[in-house]
Amino acid sequence: CGIIGYAGHRPAVPLIIEGLRRLEYRGYDSAGVAFVQNRELVTVRAEGKLSALDEKLASCPNTVATTGMGHTRWATHGIPVERNAHPHKANDGGLAIVHNGIIENYAELKAELAAKGYVFHSETDTEVLANLISEGRKHNATMLDAFAWALRQAHGAYAVALTTPEEPEVLYAARLSAPLILGVGTGENFVASDIPAFLPYTRDVVFLEDGELVRIDANSWKVMRIADLAPVEKAVNHIQWDMQAAQKGGYKHFMLKEIFEQPKVITDCLAGRVDWNRMEVTLPELAALPVPKRLHIVACGTSYHAGMWGKHLLESWARVPVNVEIASEFRYRDIILDPADMVLVISQSGETADTLAALRIAREHGVKVAGLCNVVGSSIAREADAVIYTQAGPEISVASTKAMCSQMVLLTLMALHWGRNTGALSETVRANVLQTLKKLPGQLETVLPAMRDEAQVLARTYSKAKSFFYLGRGHCFPLALEGALKLKEISYIHAEGYASGEMKHGPIALIDPDFPTFALALNDELFPKVKSNIEEVQARRGKIIALTNPGVELKVDHPWSIPDAWGPMAAFLVLPALQLFSYETADYLGKDVDQPRNLAKSVTVE
Ligand code: G6P
Repeated sequence: CGIIGYAGHRPAVPLIIEGLRRLEYRGYDSAGVAFVQNRELVTVRAEGKLSALDEKLASCPNTVATTGMGHTRWATHGIPVERNAHPHKANDGGLAIVHNGIIENYAELKAELAAKGYVFHSETDTEVLANLISEGRKHNATMLDAFAWALRQAHGAYAVALTTPEEPEVLYAARLSAPLILGVGTGENFVASDIPAFLPYTRDVVFLEDGELVRIDANSWKVMRIADLAPVEKAVNHIQWDMQAAQKGGYKHFMLKEIFEQPKVITDCLAGRVDWNRMEVTLPELAALPVPKRLHIVACGTSYHAGMWGKHLLESWARVPVNVEIASEFRYRDIILDPADMVLVISQSGETADTLAALRIAREHGVKVAGLCNVVGSSIAREADAVIYTQAGPEISVASTKAMCSQMVLLTLMALHWGRNTGALSETVRANVLQTLKKLPGQLETVLPAMRDEAQVLARTYSKAKSFFYLGRGHCFPLALEGALKLKEISYIHAEGYASGEMKHGPIALIDPDFPTFALALNDELFPKVKSNIEEVQARRGKIIALTNPGVELKVDHPWSIPDAWGPMAAFLVLPALQLFSYETADYLGKDVDQPRNLAKSVTVE
């Protein structure tokens, strides 16, 4: 989602709309603005793209406000309709807020407020927060005190901005685990979730930290701690980025930005789904559906590879038999489906034509369909019996990266959830998985820069190759397929993913010194087998890059050591290494990384 707030001397509404337009890449399913006119709080909201909001505003009387705020939403839960769009007003009209993130304890807060007589017009946690502030205003001297009072009770993640008719020229904003940046202008100040929102007006920015709150008006800004409203000294940074670079967060391509977003994606996917005190998984989306007798995972492209990887976990931890199939094959086969089976369709976009067709066929057979989707309100999300949202945020680059990571997190949680229900899952495995997942975002955050450096060196060495093999066994086999797909998609180098043990049945005939192999040789129980397969390739003078772990004994041309993680959770460290290698190769070769030739982000035709 995107937030912008303005306090200055220009007409606020057109400036906010322009700012939202520059944030549209962050989300685009509904939008809204709030401002104070004649001491009255006005909110205008619309479902759909920004142009819909623009049309609505055109029919509003002339707005003269020079202070206001706006929001463009990319729903993570709560369907994208006007009543769920931001800004949300408090019942008494004394304030409105826009918000990114999740208030995890909103259900409890809502119940307490409802008991006091507050009414709610949306399904959002944001409306709860708005009314909580309003409740706080009753026993706090100022709106600022009430805002901080309410924020201290809200757990979770937020970037939130507030406007009130009490102080029409002032905006308040605060952050906890969601981006919020202050833009410092001359006679005007801004808050936004990202720099592009205000870049045409100022390049002087203050990066707010977790637990900080800011008050802006046209001529001043002040940062305080939410905890006690003590002032915080902040440095103003001057940024050099142009607009395009700013939208990519300073990264050269969206793909690179999205690869680097994976730590956050993992955190977001887990938010509200794992109770870390009790170490338990909750997937309410699946509550109404029994554990299937047999699960059919159907998907295309990268999502299909995520499904293949998930099969290993689902079978091993939940003992649910899993069949994974490409959607375009599934839909034209004389499939055998039992009413006790379930079909799980995986689709980032939720619009892939073949996957959607598979879903419909399954439903015609009377089988329950669950959807694992990223785009809220997409066709697959709407037509499935149950939908689990991956919460990865919009993915712009055509080659899918962070979406696969989010799908893998959810497949892990499903395996734990069903494993608990079937009784097949051991306590040790459950504890190991959850402890690993908890550490993973921090671990990944630390290793990504070094991983990129290594990928850059390797990419230069191997960019002249005409062909590549990617080898893996067990849960690393689908990752090998994904590594090969990524290289093909964006660098146009031919690559094939193969099960390591299958190489000797034909493909090894292709090996010569100019046909390198990228082997996944992690420190797990299959390592001795993978090692023999690598030696078979080396015996034919094939060059090897091996992705491996510290302490592993392996003589290859380019060992690439990445940190260990427990069991199949190692995949979350393998995946970005593969993505970065493809990225760096394609970039070195000067290819159009974000929009590779002949490919589309969402394939809505057969
Ligand atoms: C297209 C994209 C791929 C994606 C596939 C499936 O081919 O280029 O990156 O993996 O569609 O997309 P979906 O949205 O269904 O996950």
